Amino acid sequence: MIHILKDVVNPINWIKIVKNPSRFIKVFNDRINYYPGLQFGYTKSKIIKKLYMSLNVFFAKKNKHFKEFFFNTGNNKTEINTNFNLNGMHDINEIQFQSLKQNGILVLENALTEHEHNKITENFNKFKDDLSNNKIDEYKHMNLKIIKGPNLRSSYTINSDLDTESNLKKISDQITKKIYGQAIKPSLTYGHNKLTNLPDTPVPGDNTWHADRYIPNLKLLYFPLGTPEGSPFRYSLGTHKINKEYLNFFLNKTESGNGTGTIETDADKKKFLKNTQEFNVQPNTLIAVLSNGFHGRTPFKTKGERCVLYLMYSQFRLSSLISYWKYNRSYKLNS
Ligand SMILES: [Fe+2]
Repeated sequence: MIHILKDVVNPINWIKIVKNPSRFIKVFNDRINYYPGLQFGYTKSKIIKKLYMSLNVFFAKKNKHFKEFFFNTGNNKTEINTNFNLNGMHDINEIQFQSLKQNGILVLENALTEHEHNKITENFNKFKDDLSNNKIDEYKHMNLKIIKGPNLRSSYTINSDLDTESNLKKISDQITKKIYGQAIKPSLTYGHNKLTNLPDTPVPGDNTWHADRYIPNLKLLYFPLGTPEGSPFRYSLGTHKINKEYLNFFLNKTESGNGTGTIETDADKKKFLKNTQEFNVQPNTLIAVLSNGFHGRTPFKTKGERCVLYLMYSQFRLSSLISYWKYNRSYKLNS
């Protein structure tokens, strides 16, 4: 917080704003207007942390879509399947949304058309070839990340619009409208893992049991090749529901270097990992996941590769959370 205040009173920064307003908007969105995560405003005080969390949860509850998916527990004891076959169609039906609401995860098999599936597979093949030939210049403006080691993790992100006719866009728009209240434009991150040496050591926020945030969050994960070489996605069903026990986990968690959203103690495992499931998927599968629930990549058991296209919704910001009434307008129409 202090560093932000220092930046605000620095006159050099004001000159920079006048000279380049669009850069200012980007910095503002990245540093102040970002959707609240697990940094808790960079405070170490438990009281401020609690205040900060309560305020964000207060606004999250005001969004009627969030309230329905993340706060209402409901009395329905009938278990709903997690997996559905879309057969290349794109309409998400009410049972599928009920599954997402109850389980926190929805697995859509045969999700994209052959054309889209092939295009994404081609993009991954090109990325893998370019990485192995060290031809990385074209990715340098795409937030390229390469973390070397026995578990090679590489990714790049594009913000260009999805084709209006693509199933991926149609599915993403329907799900974001239902979860947030408006269709949100995703960023697309091509993520590639390659494990060359066993064991697959724990990487917080990746192959450990963790939550991405403590307030409502959605991600779509597309597996063009499925998970034939291992490391399927795993999820603890129902843990996306935000209640007192859930919030206390984040409030009381001490810093350990393993990430503030990572489950570490046996007591927490007992509380939050009661109903876990691994999703070993076929090629052309799309997983919608409420990623404030506990999840992770299953560690590789043998050497192998994994390709996932992640759709993330950072365009829904803190200001979107606060201006909940704009997102509530569609609520009655939807339900
Ligand atoms: Fe995650």
